[in-house]
Amino acid sequence: MCGIFGYLGYQEAQPLIIDGLTSLAYRGYDSAGIAVLSRGGALGVRKAAGKIDNLIEAATKSPLSGRLGIGHTRWATHGEPSEVNAHPHLDGTGSIVVVHNGILENYGELKARLIANGHVFSSVTDTEVIPHLIQEFVAEGLSFAEAVRIAAGQLRGAHAIACLHADHPEEMVTFRVGNAGGVAIGHGQGGMFIASDMPALTPHTTSVTPLEPGELAIITPERYDVMTLDGKSVDANRVTIAVNATSAAKGGYKHFMLKEVMEQPEVAMSVLRGRLSFEPGEVALDLPFTDQEIKDLNRVIFIGMGTSSHACQIGAQVIERLARIAASAENSAEFRYRDPVVDKHTLVVAVAQSGETADTLEAMDRAHRSGARTITITNTEGSQAYRRAEGAILIHAGQEVGVASSKTFVNSIIAMQLLAIRLARTRGTLSTAAATEYIEALSHLPALLGEALNINGNSFQRLAVKYARSRRFLFIGRGLLEPIAREGALKLKEISYIHAEGMSAAELKHGPIALVDRETPVIALAPLNDLYEKMLSNIAQVRARDGQVIGITSVGNHEFTGLVDDVLLIPEAPLLLEPMVATIPVQLLAYHLADLLGNDVDQPRNLAKSVVVE
Ligand code: F6R
Repeated sequence: MCGIFGYLGYQEAQPLIIDGLTSLAYRGYDSAGIAVLSRGGALGVRKAAGKIDNLIEAATKSPLSGRLGIGHTRWATHGEPSEVNAHPHLDGTGSIVVVHNGILENYGELKARLIANGHVFSSVTDTEVIPHLIQEFVAEGLSFAEAVRIAAGQLRGAHAIACLHADHPEEMVTFRVGNAGGVAIGHGQGGMFIASDMPALTPHTTSVTPLEPGELAIITPERYDVMTLDGKSVDANRVTIAVNATSAAKGGYKHFMLKEVMEQPEVAMSVLRGRLSFEPGEVALDLPFTDQEIKDLNRVIFIGMGTSSHACQIGAQVIERLARIAASAENSAEFRYRDPVVDKHTLVVAVAQSGETADTLEAMDRAHRSGARTITITNTEGSQAYRRAEGAILIHAGQEVGVASSKTFVNSIIAMQLLAIRLARTRGTLSTAAATEYIEALSHLPALLGEALNINGNSFQRLAVKYARSRRFLFIGRGLLEPIAREGALKLKEISYIHAEGMSAAELKHGPIALVDRETPVIALAPLNDLYEKMLSNIAQVRARDGQVIGITSVGNHEFTGLVDDVLLIPEAPLLLEPMVATIPVQLLAYHLADLLGNDVDQPRNLAKSVVVE
């Protein structure tokens, strides 16, 4: 959830670290800080509560000079987001400084021991324990790097940590325990970098060494040594990462999220590009399995969290329909703890735009241990999910800056459909003619998404004004659109802070209908498909209770106007493509409500783009 960036080399560290933190701010943005070691050997620290701009202001007013430094952008776990709780944290002698991503589960126990030994703490964070602990081992006579390694062995939980010592101006030590987000070393021209995530490194280098859990690196301006936390040397390779061509600029839009919603037709083309084969009925999708292994699969489980878990719910339905394999979608956090029955005939598909979500990574490990086959659907090449899975389907959505996922959701669903065709063709459950028709339809999806973006004119702005005072919304849908109802509710909650629930329209009458009143708008996803009549009954039930309905239906459905209070249109689309097309109006409705309410749409309160803690 937090972002770590460090530099050691021949240039001034502060501007590089500030830029690095700015590009990592999506990981956490409630406070930030930097520490730089001056040429005279003094550690200077600047911190600020709130967004990164506050740190920039503090560091500009009172700059730190030096060629070695670390920085952190925080998503608070222990202790409110304040200046004193912001990282970096120092030990009592002021010579060891640490930035930390993760939750120190035994911090109470360690802190009590350190207090008994005379240590005094200034924050209420778990992190502050770490520099004090390292200092104890340094005081016992261990070298700095060795003290860090021994201290690392005492930390329970999952962590990514970087630390410096004022007496070691040519050394930065970083390590990982478990899955609390990654840390990668970037091999630059004028020095070495470390960062939690690749986009922060690509302006400086494409040559990186990602650390694996249980590894520690000692970095100097010219070299790096990697070892396990047991002290065994590791031959850690450099890998070359692709520079993401999509520029992180708003391109004239008021918010990144709006830009990212509007560019969905284009990014949909990217996930399809090169995969829609000219062979009739085939998709070009490399999977790490033989045809026989695909035929032998008897179960597919999609795992993911949040928006990705909604994509999973669609993926499972599509796989069952096309490939005729029993498929389900599960929340990774529950999957990892519930002792699931899986084996080598189970395919586990881990869906994570960031590729760093702690619960999903742990669930992948759980699946591996049970012998399941794994692939990931991710937007982040080189991420941990990418490296852990046997194979990956990259969704090529470009960098998503808005914290609330939009384009990565739609591209994940498209990737799942390609996977479904690929499995279905190998298993012989989809005829060449049907597959060809489906592939042809997918090739028109970018155009349909473009229509969906334009078809409603300024209705969203009008509806935002009409419903801005509502404190609760319900979203209902059936079949492939039930997950879209859930996703619509999640988007609205995240960025407008209005309470919303999404559910199967059929579920409404089993309890939630008690919430329906004049003040609770119901968004009904009701395109002209095989469940349309069912949706009409549910809509009638809402209106009979004085509820207001915003209906989303197919263009050309003229009867709808009399049946609902407000109409939003989507272009007619084949059934399997409806989820992507119907996502657009729920995204835009959430966006315009949040914008009208004056919220920070791109960095909503309390959230972070990569959730690397449990
Ligand atoms: C919602 C959102 C989150 C993420 C979730 C999983 O807009 O972005 O719910 O979907 O934290 O993230 P990934 O896909 O990176 O595993």
